[in-house]
Amino acid sequence: MNKVLNTNRFANLTFDDFSKMAKNKGLSRHEKVGFPNEYREGKEKLIFKDFVNKLPNLKLRFQNVLEIGPGCSNLPLMLVDTCEKKDSNLLLVDSKEMLNHLPDNPRITKYSGSFPNALKKDVITLRETVNVIIAYSVIQYVFANDNLWNFVDECLLLLAPGGQMLLGDIPNVTMRKRFFSSESGIRRHKEFSGQDKPPFVTFNKTEPQNIDDSVVLAIISRARAQGFDAWVVPQAKRLPMSNRREDILIFRP
Ligand SMILES: C[S@@+](CC[C@H](N)C(=O)[O-])C[C@H]1O[C@@H](n2cnc3c(N)ncnc32)[C@H](O)[C@@H]1O
Repeated sequence: MNKVLNTNRFANLTFDDFSKMAKNKGLSRHEKVGFPNEYREGKEKLIFKDFVNKLPNLKLRFQNVLEIGPGCSNLPLMLVDTCEKKDSNLLLVDSKEMLNHLPDNPRITKYSGSFPNALKKDVITLRETVNVIIAYSVIQYVFANDNLWNFVDECLLLLAPGGQMLLGDIPNVTMRKRFFSSESGIRRHKEFSGQDKPPFVTFNKTEPQNIDDSVVLAIISRARAQGFDAWVVPQAKRLPMSNRREDILIFRP
């Protein structure tokens, strides 16, 4: 299949689409979470290493770790393993269909449904108790279909003092435009598409459902205004979409 068409197959997905894809036996583990195989195959260890390095609390023992939208690739399995080795508790929030692919053990608590509603009354008992929150490649769907600000605020309320949160793998349409207007972006596009045409890039137009610089920077401002340290950080260069995706780190002092 043409690579561009293959990528578009995974555009505009909703939480319900993901739960259906999780049940589809014809999809690989990468496709079930919305990625063409070539974007993720052989890359999961690099991705995991990149986010573990950004979240030093994951290397400590007895942490409460929450992953929102773990999906069902090897990434959450690596997190299960890390948490097990560190005697940390792991809370997982995603659709029942996604969570069914992940292991059960006494240190894992699964909440099926979308965050934050899936936590139900635990949303109160968990307040200020979570040492690490990971939402990797998730907030773009919340931005497009739900209330991003409520999502971010509810995460902040869960963070314990010293807690660390990664909103990772955020596709930023302005960053994408910067890249595809550059020489290396044009060259990369030609290689990827197999055609000699430059990528189509337009500025000054409305971009419904796309996260751009204004959204990324507003998350930083909002977290800082609410008493947290927050930064936009790059992904390791070797990650598949590091030229147009970035991460947000939010640490509670
Ligand atoms: C692109 S996949 C990423 C999966 C995994 N984090 C990874 O990078 O391989 C997005 C995942 O987020 C989940 N998701 C989307 N919105 C969510 C929400 N509000 N709460 C919990 N999970 C959500 C989807 O069901 C899906 O499993």
